[in-house]
Amino acid sequence: MSQTQLTQIKENALKAFSSAQNSQELYGFKVQYLGKSGSLTESMKLMATLPKEEKPLFGKMVNEIKTELEAAYEQAEASLKNKEIDAKMLSEKLDLSFSTAAKEQGKEHPIHKVTNEIFSIMARLGYSLRTGPLIEKDYYNFEALNIPPNHPARDMQDTFFVDESHVLRTHTSPIQIHSLENEKPPLRIIGTGPVFRCDSDISHLPNFHQIEGMCVDEKVSMSDLKGTISFFVREFFGPGLKTRFRPSFFPFTEPSAEVDCSCPICKGKGCSMCKQTGWIEIGGSGLINPKVFAHANVEYPKWQGFAFGFGVERMAIIKYGVDDIRHFPSNDVRFLKQF
Ligand code: DAH
Repeated sequence: MSQTQLTQIKENALKAFSSAQNSQELYGFKVQYLGKSGSLTESMKLMATLPKEEKPLFGKMVNEIKTELEAAYEQAEASLKNKEIDAKMLSEKLDLSFSTAAKEQGKEHPIHKVTNEIFSIMARLGYSLRTGPLIEKDYYNFEALNIPPNHPARDMQDTFFVDESHVLRTHTSPIQIHSLENEKPPLRIIGTGPVFRCDSDISHLPNFHQIEGMCVDEKVSMSDLKGTISFFVREFFGPGLKTRFRPSFFPFTEPSAEVDCSCPICKGKGCSMCKQTGWIEIGGSGLINPKVFAHANVEYPKWQGFAFGFGVERMAIIKYGVDDIRHFPSNDVRFLKQF
């Protein structure tokens, strides 16, 4: 092995390194020249065969070449890596002008829309928002609302029981009790959210929404109730609609009235929406039963009140002329887009 041969190895290695097309190929050349059985390493082994006086110079030369080649390798590697990153970025470039199938946009759910509209109408009358748990103690859903155990009024609502003392709330009226227990009158509150009943057909869902209103003040009468609800119905459905109150029964109100509004579709002439009667029922109402005040330790008759509870889906159906209540939980965008 002569010095000329060593120089030759160096030249070949440098040429190979600079000709490599990618880092894999470059690494192959590194193994070929600098690896354990690479040309340069092999030449070191041959040193043993040299005359003693030539050894130091030869060794020095091998070491210098090794250092030089290692540096050349690193430089080549860095430049190839850069090129590879550039190529990768180029191939992954986003074409922002490329046209794709349009993504379907979501839409506010009509139940939300109706609920928010109701809030803003009631807010103008000084009502503020309350919520309550979906799993209620039997006490709040029934007893405190003057529906004792075994009372026939419990049959009015097909209840989902969670355990012996808890139910999925069947109405939003328990929100009244939470408010009466936790706040001091005078009160004007509006509560809303899902309620649950074991019932399902074209006009009933097992999971629907109610809106509950309660006003507690000194000297509250049936005319306050009628005035408030009539205002609310007119604001919600539009001018020209009439409101009608029919005597009814709810254990938590006395007297009680069911609320009808003249059919917004046919304006009271009679159509399929109102079953040819010209009127549509939207919910229940009444003056708060003193027994409810007693449960919540509110002094009666110093404080008196009225309350009402409406079905949100029902109001949306009437306002928008929806033909099947089951569209609401479907969340089909084609349905939602119509509101
Ligand atoms: N909670 C009753 C129901 O779901 C509706 C109702 C009637 C609510 C009269 C009231 C009320 O606040 O005063 O059938």
